[in-house]
Amino acid sequence: MEKKLAINGGTPVRAKDNLFPAYLPIGVEEKDAVNRVRDSGVLSRYVGCWDPDFYGGPEVQAFEREWASFFGVKHAIAMNSATSGLQAAIGALGIEPGDEVIVTPYSMVISATAPLFYGAVPVFADVESEYFCLDPIAVEKAITPRTKAIIVVDIFGLPYDADAINAIARKHNIAVIEDAAQAPYAKYKGKFAGTLGDIGVYSLNYHKHIHTGEGSLVVTNDDRLAERLQLIRNHAEAVVEGKEVTDIVNMVGYNFRLTELQAAIGREQLKKLPKLAEERIKNCEYISEHLRDLPGIQAPKVRLDATHVYYMQAVLFDEAIVGVSRERFVQAVAAELSPTEKQEWEGTLISGGYVKPIYLMPIFRDQIAFGSKGFPFKSEFYKGETHYEKGMCPVVESLFEKKMITHDMMRPGMTTADLDDVVAAFHKVYDNRNELK
Ligand SMILES: Cc1ncc(COP(=O)(O)O)c(C=O)c1O
Repeated sequence: MEKKLAINGGTPVRAKDNLFPAYLPIGVEEKDAVNRVRDSGVLSRYVGCWDPDFYGGPEVQAFEREWASFFGVKHAIAMNSATSGLQAAIGALGIEPGDEVIVTPYSMVISATAPLFYGAVPVFADVESEYFCLDPIAVEKAITPRTKAIIVVDIFGLPYDADAINAIARKHNIAVIEDAAQAPYAKYKGKFAGTLGDIGVYSLNYHKHIHTGEGSLVVTNDDRLAERLQLIRNHAEAVVEGKEVTDIVNMVGYNFRLTELQAAIGREQLKKLPKLAEERIKNCEYISEHLRDLPGIQAPKVRLDATHVYYMQAVLFDEAIVGVSRERFVQAVAAELSPTEKQEWEGTLISGGYVKPIYLMPIFRDQIAFGSKGFPFKSEFYKGETHYEKGMCPVVESLFEKKMITHDMMRPGMTTADLDDVVAAFHKVYDNRNELK
């Protein structure tokens, strides 16, 4: 192989027009399911009052039963996104102005902003340096008399440290909401991610392991929480009287409903989940194995007794050992590889850092969320004091600034030859890194 790096004008490992295969889990089964619903003429079947159709149509209800049975949980409530599902979880738990919820700064934003929708204040705790989920020690330190819940995230597809964090929650009598958007089919001590806390939230958006375009399932073993989730999904305020619900705290509902079309697709997608997740695991393990001999590049570690389902492959990069900056390294690997079909405009699917620590976003920095007067951070109900500033969570900041590389070039559909190109690009850049100095 030519030594000169593509970023310096050499021949790339993979020609730019040789695109990586698209990740397309939707097939003929989903097409038939959509046609079945189309032929029925009922594309969604809800009414927002106390009526048999309060629970949605036959596809939604069948999807919920099948999801609950697959994941071994009592209730599954379909919603139109994990964003909605996380908000509903906060509402169902009775969280209110004055309360605090401990969150991670290293996730998609709603994992941290969901408490705001009920007037509660997010309190950020740092993450584990090798697994990237909330660090139990940091969580314990963040607890105050106002803490009502922890939102844990199974980030990149690895379950959180459920034993440690659930024990902290029990000790302080607070709830655990598990954001398993990136981790369907991952396991911790034999139980599926999403079922490890009091409420679990999955995402079915287009980027996830399985999808319905947009969508979510929210799961719980608690009958009362299940009812509250169903109410918040579907105009609770108009239902409580007819349903004779007496606890009306947070019973201002939304329309978070999933359609029959999406549910029918989701039922087919669920059948495909094991195979799709296993292929991802196999691909990631193959890449990890072949990166093992590169000092300063560390493939993802998997927690003891857990399985990782690799929403992304997150690699740790040590600039001191490799001798070049992460930015230069990522640019050079990207230059050796090609984009992915149907995502051509995004370039090579590799980047540094994942997301900026959420507490550095303007709404936190300036403490302006709902209205212009600082609610809920500054209000008569909130007796705590929060500052959101750089330096709060050093592990997350170092991952974002220099230590983490993520890529998507391991999704099902990749052949061994495709994976070999990814590995070869890392090796070529590594071996010739002097060219980057
Ligand atoms: C960890 C995590 N939580 C929540 C969400 C929100 O999911 P949705 O797009 O279904 O609202 C995402 C989506 O990217 C996510 O990755």
